[in-house]
Amino acid sequence: MKDSHGRTIDYLRISLTDRCNLRCIYCMPEEGVCSLSHEDILTLEEIETIVEVAAEMGFKHIRLTGGEPLVRKGVVDCVRHIVETPGIERVAMTTNGILLPQMAKDLRAAGLSRVNVSLDTLDADQFRFITRRGELADALAGIDAALEAGLNPVKVNAVVVRSLDQDLLEFAKLSLDRPLHVRFIEYMPVGESSGVDGCGWGPEDVIDSDDVVRIVSERAQEAGLGPLLPLNEAAAEGWGPARYFHFEGALGTVGVISPMSRHFCKECNRLRLTADGKLRPCLFSDLEYDVRTPVRAGDRDGVKTAILEALGHKPEDHFDIVGTERKMSQIGG
Ligand code: GTP
Ligand code: 5AD
Ligand code: SF4
Repeated sequence: MKDSHGRTIDYLRISLTDRCNLRCIYCMPEEGVCSLSHEDILTLEEIETIVEVAAEMGFKHIRLTGGEPLVRKGVVDCVRHIVETPGIERVAMTTNGILLPQMAKDLRAAGLSRVNVSLDTLDADQFRFITRRGELADALAGIDAALEAGLNPVKVNAVVVRSLDQDLLEFAKLSLDRPLHVRFIEYMPVGESSGVDGCGWGPEDVIDSDDVVRIVSERAQEAGLGPLLPLNEAAAEGWGPARYFHFEGALGTVGVISPMSRHFCKECNRLRLTADGKLRPCLFSDLEYDVRTPVRAGDRDGVKTAILEALGHKPEDHFDIVGTERKMSQIGG
């Protein structure tokens, strides 16, 4: 399926809920977002119907996001349904990992292929500061559980923020002894992050991915680990725009995602579905297409029309606009 700029669109990111068991300072206010009411959010059956229609149209890859997708009741059955949908090849998830120790095995058994775990620091105090309520040990146990359950690849998403002064080499070293793929993401100063009550981080907190690679590589060499070497795209299965590197002999990789320094819109392959049933053509645009009304009416043609509308309105690029009325927690990144 092509959009009006000739790009193949086959990746649907579905936000299962806007709720979360953490309150990351750049993502949500302390009191949580004014959560959508029960009637506003799509039921799991409605989501499954939308996936069926999307799959008939050519979507192959599904990623479940949040908020935190694992706090949505029934998520394991939802994974199973989506995995069994004809046309869907792989189902992945982006999670904060806190509930993986209890759930990773069941998710794998339901057919989930892989997970990306969001983890921005390896310092327990800083973890409490960033998440306002989480314990680093729980997130690390989540990563262990994902590997043990056989989810593959397991990736760690670390948003790099200058004010946090994270130990990037410690992160990169996670890729040495286990098949873990650590990805450094350029911080995007959008929504909650730009200040209201939160972290106060701004554009000056963005560190260019090229600098991240250089810093990690230099520090690694000082520590006797050798430089980071570039890898081709197939290094770790992915549908997103990460670029990958590795240390010689390491079991995992180190990647970077550069939404700020290199627009990857030319390769954009995705649509987003919000928990309240809006299709979003672009992360950074507030343009949305309602798919809840047709799916609730049992109107599959209407669902298809909404998907085509969203596809037809995918912008060519977000240019330098990185704003949205919605918070990241409501879009799922
Ligand atoms: P893989 O398929 O494993 O490569 O994952 P992914 O990169 O597609 O998904 P993930 O949920 O792990 O997102 C990683 C980062 O990329 C997050 O910070 C997202 O917000 C960001 N991201 C994902 N999609 C887009 C997009 O369309 N535009 C921009 N600018 N950033 C995006
Ligand atoms: N900039 C960059 N990445 C972000 N994420 C959430 N907010 C931002 C932001 N402002 C990341 C999360 C998660 C992914 C879905 O999006 O950390 O890994
Ligand atoms: Fe939750 Fe992820 Fe937002 Fe943190 S970044 S509050 S883990 S949705």
